[in-house]
Amino acid sequence: MTNHNNNPISMIGFLFISVLVLAASSAENFNQDFQITWGDGRGMVLDDGSLLTLSLDKSSGSGFSSVNEYLFAKIDMQLKLVPGNSAGTVTTYYLSSEGSTHDEIDFEFLGNLSGDPYTLHTNIYALGTGNREQQFHLWFDPTLDFHTYSILWNPLTIIFSVDGRPIREYKNMESRGIPFPKSQAMRIYGSLWDAEDWATRGGLVKTDWTQAPFTTSFRGFTAQAGGTGDQSWLKQSVDAAGQASIKEVQAQYMIYNYCTDTTRFPQGVPPECSP
Ligand SMILES: *[C@@H]1O[C@H](CO)[C@@H](O)[C@H](O)[C@H]1NC(C)=O
Repeated sequence: MTNHNNNPISMIGFLFISVLVLAASSAENFNQDFQITWGDGRGMVLDDGSLLTLSLDKSSGSGFSSVNEYLFAKIDMQLKLVPGNSAGTVTTYYLSSEGSTHDEIDFEFLGNLSGDPYTLHTNIYALGTGNREQQFHLWFDPTLDFHTYSILWNPLTIIFSVDGRPIREYKNMESRGIPFPKSQAMRIYGSLWDAEDWATRGGLVKTDWTQAPFTTSFRGFTAQAGGTGDQSWLKQSVDAAGQASIKEVQAQYMIYNYCTDTTRFPQGVPPECSP
């Protein structure tokens, strides 16, 4: 697909950086850092706190939230999504503050019929307003293995990455009057629920309840928060290689971008869409 994975020099550099990051932030424990918040036993922490599973059946889904709140964070989470016919199911993993003017940074995974691609949905709310959706298909089957989905949120930027590869950046453009989340602390949330009315092909494909219960697994959570440990991520932004990666991912895998949706925004797309 790209040649950057095959370059031995950058591969060595990549491995080296990975080792440093692992050393700096050991995996956290789901028992300590999260609470199952709903689902009446359908959410479970297993394997001494290293694995969290959420399940969904016809009566209910399930969800969790972090104990800690974060004002800026660099978060990695590995997810293995509902396999097989996952049409109608939605797995979420996001950061959110509370209240009517809340901020939010979202990853959502919309299931599909067996063999049809999941949709990775992203959105950003600032001061209660979202409407900043970008959607992607993935370059791998997200149900076969765990993959890492990361959010870097610092005062300069918000970066969404998949397996270390940046796919989207939302820069702080407050100097142009565009709101940016930066003063409300957020918790981390995850959930698995049914949205057969809209999730798959806009609601045409319904959930196949004969396949229930559906299960999504989470592991490998790490968080760097403002004020602890190495703080260099607080100043990080997407470098030239990262910008090239975002361009390439968006060219090949983006299936929806609010910034090009002139039907939805006949008076002109939102100001952050012009760089
Ligand atoms: C499901 O598969 C169809 C056909 O490939 C695709 O158009 C759609 O984006 C996929 N995802 C969802 C959530 O409908």
